[in-house]
Amino acid sequence: MGKFIVQGGNKLSGEISVSGAKNMATKILAVSLMSEQTMKISRVPEIEDVKRLLEILEELGVKIERVAKGEYHLVPKNIDLDKFNYDLVSQFRASILLLGPLLARFKKVKFPHPGGCIIGKRPIDLFVKGFKALGAKITEHNEYYEFDANGLIGAKIVFPQMTVTGTETLMLAAVFAKGTTTLINAAHEPEIRALADYLNCQGAKITGAGTNTVVIEGVAEISAGEVEIIPDRIETGSYVALALATKSNIKITNCHPHDILIPLELAKQMGADITIGEDYIDIKAARELKAINIKTHEYPGFATDLQAPFTVLLTQSKGQSLVHETVFEGRLFYTDFLSRMGANILMCDPQRVLITGPTQLIGKKLESPDLRAGIAMVIAGLIAKGETEIENIYQVERGYEDLMEKLKGIGADITRQD
Ligand code: EPU
Repeated sequence: MGKFIVQGGNKLSGEISVSGAKNMATKILAVSLMSEQTMKISRVPEIEDVKRLLEILEELGVKIERVAKGEYHLVPKNIDLDKFNYDLVSQFRASILLLGPLLARFKKVKFPHPGGCIIGKRPIDLFVKGFKALGAKITEHNEYYEFDANGLIGAKIVFPQMTVTGTETLMLAAVFAKGTTTLINAAHEPEIRALADYLNCQGAKITGAGTNTVVIEGVAEISAGEVEIIPDRIETGSYVALALATKSNIKITNCHPHDILIPLELAKQMGADITIGEDYIDIKAARELKAINIKTHEYPGFATDLQAPFTVLLTQSKGQSLVHETVFEGRLFYTDFLSRMGANILMCDPQRVLITGPTQLIGKKLESPDLRAGIAMVIAGLIAKGETEIENIYQVERGYEDLMEKLKGIGADITRQD
């Protein structure tokens, strides 16, 4: 497993460009299975999660051509379900997105319980209930589910709790269900709207994606075409936290600032000097930042995926901040590493921490438990005194494309050891 060695204390400066969104790319790749035509995808982030999904698709029989960096042509003609790599699928959460397209094509699929970051229980009960509402027969075994989705019929599905991949999976399943499906209390992340926009261009009939009610009229088939992945809003927000925490002048380019308006608003409340353009965010070093409270929320609220990088930032802000994680029950345990680095953090309960700042962090040997805690460690390493070693960086590289190269480009002292 690789590790990063970070020397802290450098002032960073310059431009850092944002890659395509992990949480759209993984889903668009799965959608390639919904037609037999060639799909052309650009701005694909070449991150570990995408590589794993490409491996699964290739083993299934999809012909994959890498035309250039981030540009792929997928030809899903001769798919063989016997070649489905259950081991790999069970290792990461995004693989659940394959379920809808596979069921649409093969009607009967065995599917393992998907894994993912260790940030909470991550159940799939809402997916199972949704499929049952559409008429699928589901048998649960110890380690896998058997789905029989012969003749799905549109239905009204009410999510008692918003779920991003749950909304996407059922939206995909409903594309080929007979009649109308209505998803109520659906998640509204920009990646969901982008996914629906692509499907509609190919003949699907989806309205309301990006709002809390999505209506899908079933169609018999869809075609495949060209699609560009939207910029990664979580990568964008991570660089905002990085720029502010390291007190650097950084311009974040090729991004959609309007997808992270709430984190940007909170940063301004902290006293940050931020200029927001159509596709860039220009941050000027602030001498002192104020403490603020953060409560994570489904989109358009403060994204849970930005909680860890902003928590590191709050260790550098003056006063007491409260961070309340409301989406995942296990997404604050990583803060232990910040305490070991010298931060003043009090865990009130598993979902709330109080941070008193500013504190000088000291470099330590760390191990990344998950993707967003991993980027938080990198940011902490860059502001700490001395050297920080971060092991298990596979977790970080699951979601940040060319991270080391991008950080070096703005003056960070970071190296990678395998
Ligand atoms: N939930 C259930 N039952 C379900 C599904 C979800 O109780 O059947 C609960 C979860 O336990 C959680 C809440 O609903 O408490 C929200 O989970 P959601 O289903 O929205 O999360 P997800 O779809 O598994 C996606 C992203 C995550 C991101 C969350 C929240 C992908 C592949 N993953 O996960 O991304 O944190 O939405 O925005 O899209 C990351 O990028 O680091 C990451 C973990």
